[in-house]
Amino acid sequence: MEQPIERLERLRAEALQGGGEARIAAQHGKGKLTARQRIDLLLDPGTFEEMGMLVKHRSTNFGLDKQQFLGDGVVTGYGQVDGRLVYVFSQDFTVLGGSLAEAHAKKICRIMDLAMQNGAPLIGLNDSGGARIQEGVVSLGGYADIFYRNVRASGVIPQLSGILGPCAGGAVYSPALTDFIFMAEGSSYMFVTGPNVVKTVTHEEVTSEDLGGAKAHATKSGVTHFTARNEALVIQDIKDVLSYLPQNCEEEPIRLDYQEGDETRLKLDSVIPESAQQPYDIREVILEIVDAETFKEVQKDHAENMVCGFARLAGQSIGVVANQPAFLAGVLDIKASTKAARFVRTCDAFNVPLLVFEDVPGFLPGTDQEWNGIITNGAKLLYAFSEATVPRVTVITRKAYGGAYDVMNSQHIGADLVYAWPKAEIAVMGAKGAAEIIFRKEIAASADPEATWKEKEAEYAELFAHPYNAAARGYVDEVILPRNTRAKLIRAFKMLENKVDTLPRKKHGNLPL
Ligand code: HXC
Repeated sequence: MEQPIERLERLRAEALQGGGEARIAAQHGKGKLTARQRIDLLLDPGTFEEMGMLVKHRSTNFGLDKQQFLGDGVVTGYGQVDGRLVYVFSQDFTVLGGSLAEAHAKKICRIMDLAMQNGAPLIGLNDSGGARIQEGVVSLGGYADIFYRNVRASGVIPQLSGILGPCAGGAVYSPALTDFIFMAEGSSYMFVTGPNVVKTVTHEEVTSEDLGGAKAHATKSGVTHFTARNEALVIQDIKDVLSYLPQNCEEEPIRLDYQEGDETRLKLDSVIPESAQQPYDIREVILEIVDAETFKEVQKDHAENMVCGFARLAGQSIGVVANQPAFLAGVLDIKASTKAARFVRTCDAFNVPLLVFEDVPGFLPGTDQEWNGIITNGAKLLYAFSEATVPRVTVITRKAYGGAYDVMNSQHIGADLVYAWPKAEIAVMGAKGAAEIIFRKEIAASADPEATWKEKEAEYAELFAHPYNAAARGYVDEVILPRNTRAKLIRAFKMLENKVDTLPRKKHGNLPL
């Protein structure tokens, strides 16, 4: 008879085999790692504690009773990332395609419950053919059990989703409910309905990659927040993002030691071009101001007229939101507003202070924008800033025109401090358009309309294209030399580090969706 210890060892060895050698080889053949290899990359060495290694499904449908794999296609447990507790699940595609059903879902729910009760991040590594077809409705129920927990955990603990293989049907909705999605180029895709269904319903011919690959979601849909060339880099991205976030909403992000030195950044004095119509890359400003090599951009290739990302300033974790004059002149449109609103809310939920750089000519006009709801979508950004209680500081580098002035974290909607650079233009609209509207009659009646227009434009610019009207009202706290911006911001965020601000008691707000 088999001895108890031998039995345990045999079962463990069996579980570690997942779907068997052939399927592991096939997984590697696709350039993919196994579920356990991914966990090894993610967690600090020797810290992983597995739970439910011997769990089995109990279905007998379609011969499933003869397809028993210990662990049921998902490896779950807890461990540490950079010495901090995290909970993790990693789907095993070598077991029934990583498909999800009753037992698999229960294992995930169990660690989700523990993550919530113990206030630590949840990391999901997804690689699954979706609902396990043989198990029927219990698979759907299992998904819904996870969705429900994702929502309950939203804003309480950070939830990060790596997509490292297929993610089809309902499987996309759990990642979509989490804070960040990370995709691997070439080997991961996400869609609600795959290419075959698309072809039947809409007659479109599209590949999986074009429909829901990392590139499509990084550029077109904005569904993924990060993409990387391979799985190891995806996992590094997950760790990087985690380093800017606290364990849960009651805690502050970790602050690194910082020794103040010469914080002057002379280069900033010459970043803004001579002409207000000329673009410049706002990343140059961001990189000069935040701590070296700490800027981690979010949704980099989506809505490029808005730049969002985490960084550190004197060791403190901050969220940067910036208009990008180098793309569509930094105009606010539907995608840019939604992108920034989401990022602002994520930072606010997890006590990450916000630093805003503003250079925006206004909202993008046109039927496309109006009919697709720039009103509702622009309102999301207004809502997100107004609601945020974390420390918030704005630097107006150049244009702050129209409604966009209000929206981009103005003092009126709760910014704690607003700085402007000397070339800032803070007005209802640009001088050219303003002159055309206010002086239409004079321009039309003039012997030389073009010259009159130019003259009136100059008059308006003289009156409004500077920061001093806003400074006179106190809407701008200080007009600063660009070179001093980093030093000012370090002091500002230090001054704000004990800020307390609360929202009125309510069930929840009604974000314009
Ligand atoms: C059971 C599945 C499975 C599934 C894959 N497998 N998906 N088993 N249920 N959903 C099994 C396969 O039978 C195979 O078993 C192994 O996993 C690997 O699959 P392959 O097809 O050989 O791999 P590949 O060629 O890489 O293709 C992967 C795939 C494809 C694109 C994911 O398997 C696929 O299209 N699967 C079905 C996807 C799907 O329609 N899912 C249901 C979505 S509906 P063997 O034994 O040969 O290794 C849904 C509803 C949820 O999710 C709703 C919640 C709101």
